[in-house]
Amino acid sequence: MTFEMAKTAGFCFGVARAVRTVTELSACERLCTYGPLINNRIVTGGLEARGVPVIDDLSGADGAKVAIRSHGVPESVYAELDRLGLEYVDCTCPDVKKIHAIAGKSRSEGHTLIIIGDAGHPEIKGIMGYAGEARVYAGLEEMRPEDFHADGVYDVVFQTTYDKSKFSAICAWLEKIKAGTPGLNLTIHDTVCGATAKRQAEAREIARRSDVMIVLGDASSSNTDKLYRICKENCERTYLVETIKEFQLNILHPSDKIGLTAGASTPPEITKEAVELMSDLVNNNNGVNNSQSFEEMLDEALVTLHTGDIVKGTVIQVTPADVSVNLGYKSDGIIMKSEVSDDPAADITKILKPGDVIDVFVVRVNDGEGNVLLSKKKIDAQKGMMELEEAFQNKTPVEGKITEVVKGGVIANIKGARAFIPSKQVSDRYVEDLETLKGKTFDFNILEFDRSKRRLVAGRRELAAAEKERAKTEIFSKVEVGQIVKGKVSRVAAFGAFVDLGGVDGLIHISELAWSRVRKVTDVVKEGDEVEAAVVAVDPEKGKISLSLRGVTQDPWKTAAEKYAVGALVEGKVARLVPFGAFVELEDGVDGLIHISQIANHRVAKPEDELTVGQTVQVVVTEVSGEAKKISLSKRAADDLAERGADYEEPVGEEIDIFVGEPLVEAAESDGYEIMVVLEPDEVEAVAKLAAEIWNEYYTPLIGKEQVDYMLDKFQSAVAIYKQIKEEGCRYYLAEVAHKPAAYCAVKFDPETRVVFLSKLYVEAGFRQRGLAKAMIENFAADYEPVKTIWLTVNKGNAGTIAAYEKMGFKTTDELVTDIGGGYVMDDYKMELELEE
Ligand code: F3S
Repeated sequence: MTFEMAKTAGFCFGVARAVRTVTELSACERLCTYGPLINNRIVTGGLEARGVPVIDDLSGADGAKVAIRSHGVPESVYAELDRLGLEYVDCTCPDVKKIHAIAGKSRSEGHTLIIIGDAGHPEIKGIMGYAGEARVYAGLEEMRPEDFHADGVYDVVFQTTYDKSKFSAICAWLEKIKAGTPGLNLTIHDTVCGATAKRQAEAREIARRSDVMIVLGDASSSNTDKLYRICKENCERTYLVETIKEFQLNILHPSDKIGLTAGASTPPEITKEAVELMSDLVNNNNGVNNSQSFEEMLDEALVTLHTGDIVKGTVIQVTPADVSVNLGYKSDGIIMKSEVSDDPAADITKILKPGDVIDVFVVRVNDGEGNVLLSKKKIDAQKGMMELEEAFQNKTPVEGKITEVVKGGVIANIKGARAFIPSKQVSDRYVEDLETLKGKTFDFNILEFDRSKRRLVAGRRELAAAEKERAKTEIFSKVEVGQIVKGKVSRVAAFGAFVDLGGVDGLIHISELAWSRVRKVTDVVKEGDEVEAAVVAVDPEKGKISLSLRGVTQDPWKTAAEKYAVGALVEGKVARLVPFGAFVELEDGVDGLIHISQIANHRVAKPEDELTVGQTVQVVVTEVSGEAKKISLSKRAADDLAERGADYEEPVGEEIDIFVGEPLVEAAESDGYEIMVVLEPDEVEAVAKLAAEIWNEYYTPLIGKEQVDYMLDKFQSAVAIYKQIKEEGCRYYLAEVAHKPAAYCAVKFDPETRVVFLSKLYVEAGFRQRGLAKAMIENFAADYEPVKTIWLTVNKGNAGTIAAYEKMGFKTTDELVTDIGGGYVMDDYKMELELEE
């Protein structure tokens, strides 16, 4: 009795890979398989016992990670997995994947896909899921010449486990059809798995020389079934059993030559069990021990590979965890991620891709599951060492990536080798946190190289300094004042922010960060921010560049006079409170002041009694000067507007009461105002009140009694002013609307020139200027008839008011008026209106 076992028996690469992946993952994750992982009940039963159930519907996954079977699935299954938000691990055999790719291409090119195989097999169903128009034939017996049209374009693929001899017959038949059908475009793809072909060929040979042939495997496996048929065709006494225990030993004769093979999905332990039993049987029968162990037979199949060999291979598949490599041997090779690169963060799918031909180092011929363990990084390191030695001798810089931080420095991967970089050598300046360098790529000098001691020390101190010097020279040769430059904030100090312009740091002083006042640099920029800044000064000798962040935007005060016209109702945010009022931010860099008297319609002792910092307020613009960067605001006027409502219409003509020459103290007080203005005053108190008004830089016409008393102390010159008014014959006009002061002005008349000079025409916030101004001008013009010319003054920054008077016919002169008498000291333009005589 003899016993011969097929060297190609048992798990193929694709099956071994799928079983290994799922077995390993099941130790740490909840898994299920979509359909049986492979066609072997013993294996799937074993996985089930490990908590990996088989599901036929993805809705049954119950949140577990789904393992895709080695036979593959239709493309739509991946979309469904995504839709259901299920994670998955793809165990499709790379050889099956290749067929999916052919089917997909055939579909996109509008070809007809001809699939030769078992239409009911999951592999064929999966392929159909990638195809466009497709037909499945079980074999030559189903194929008819008329199925192939002269104008058709066909791609022909075969089930991976298809009988190789039948494959050849079909190819010959198709070639004949092609030759006899001009125009027929037909491409045959040999997709029969190499492992299957070898297994079938070997089984055929063994079956031919055996009296009894045992095929181990699951009857539902297409691969096992084909193996059984091939053996049966060549050996009448062929038996298909799932395990050797099912085999009837009593059918054997002492002189039988026994052959044994196993399907691709038959696990090693089943084959091993059979080998041991048959070996014992033969030994017992022959009385000698001449059998090989299972491992010995398996190793024999790999005779052409040895540990330590360097061989060429073609990458078949790359996953984030490993790389499959076709070595042209019985088994394919595996390079684990850690053997591709030393960098734990490396994405190996970006390093290698299917089709790459690479040199690999054989780490182990058989990892116990039939796989060849390979290493790429060992080859890279060997090549890299030679290059590093050369770089060391020639003092040429080499590129490397910092991968980890260790005591006293960092480790860099340079040409596949681990190099130590002392912390002093990582840069030309002290680096506080070496972790920030992890993952970055730099050029290094090789400082020490000792192959025997495997010592490699590198550094970039000198290179960094030289790089910086080069960058500095280049930047200073280009940078100019006024230029807009881009950079990254490298450091923040209390007085400003340093910006790396690509080797040279420029400084943005805190005052140049924004148009508004900046309290803390970090309120505007922080380290790492990308910024655009204007160059405001360059000093190549001192190596300094001053930058301005606000310089890239327009000074908001340039347009403030147009944007915030007198009388406009605007919104702002209370920025800070001071004893005399509240500053309100109208926009970044533009603050206006609400004087304390303009906060409310009642007397306000302290601004904080009415307002809080950060509060949003509606205010009316009462005065604006872009040049002086001042805007006066009135919340009181805005409150009045709100009170008057949207229907309020400005009174015109006779509806305006003009008072001339009478003290209005009483009338004003009765309306809740202390005083408005003095008309031809002859009492000290009234003059003092006027003085208070003059004093107020915000032209506050309504002043509380306490403030008047305060100012009486401060401004003893008030009496003198009063006298001047009297001597120079000034008159004051007040316009009231609905018994409330609305506008006023002081007027001086020169009887000789017949010129009326309006010292200051003030219109209360919330009243539209033009109507009131017109009414007042008409009124006093009537008082002084015949008036030839009217002069008035307007603050030079108040473009809106100037425009309003120009519409009334006034012309702006170049003449600046600083004092027209009556105590008014101004810095205004004179405007002039010539009246017709
Ligand atoms: Fe793949 Fe061939 Fe096995 S196609 S699953 S390696 S039989």
